[in-house]
Amino acid sequence: MNMVTEPENIRLEVIAWGSADYEEAVRLRDRVLRQPLGMSIYNDDLQAERQDIHLLARAGGRAAGVLLLRRIGRDTLQMKQVAVDEAMQGRGIGRRLVGFAEQTALKESARKLMLHARMTAVPFYEKLGYVKTGEPYTEVGIPHWTMFKELPGEANEH
Ligand SMILES: CC(C)(COP(=O)(O)OP(=O)(O)OC[C@H]1O[C@@H](n2cnc3c(N)ncnc32)[C@H](O)[C@@H]1OP(=O)(O)O)[C@@H](O)C(=O)NCCC(=O)NCCS
Repeated sequence: MNMVTEPENIRLEVIAWGSADYEEAVRLRDRVLRQPLGMSIYNDDLQAERQDIHLLARAGGRAAGVLLLRRIGRDTLQMKQVAVDEAMQGRGIGRRLVGFAEQTALKESARKLMLHARMTAVPFYEKLGYVKTGEPYTEVGIPHWTMFKELPGEANEH
């Protein structure tokens, strides 16, 4: 398992689809992303996530943050289902998780990350270097913007 230990007892992990860690991550997604909208994650097509890369942040051993990465093009991954436990928001977990996603994407030879950001989270992603494109639209009943970030290529690493 690919694992990075961070300060403040935050541990970042790549987890396997279908594992106990994944089930815990899905419960967190349900609590943060679906229940507040009166929806259930268990109505989503979780089988479609088999090939995705699943990332988990643990704080003091508990699942605190989650996201997944899906390949949508030769050099582009989509970041989806970004969620931090409500009790742990605003402590830098989201920033670390997205940073881990970017490192993971680079290892996967991706050069660009794309996401459908909830309007309320747009300022969070802007702080991390993501840029809005196009016009807002509705998903899961709430306004979203498509955002992109070009990841540093080899030319920028030397
Ligand atoms: C959006 C979310 C993932 C951010 O995670 P987090 O752990 O709370 O964020 P961090 O503490 O790492 O914040 C990093 C920076 O972004 C800022 N920030 C975080 N959320 C913000 C928001 N909604 N609006 C404005 N700024 C925000 C923080 O203040 C911090 O700024 P600083 O570094 O200048 O202090 C989390 O709040 C969340 O899960 N929200 C509910 C679900 C959601 O909207 N998910 C995104 C779907 S696209």
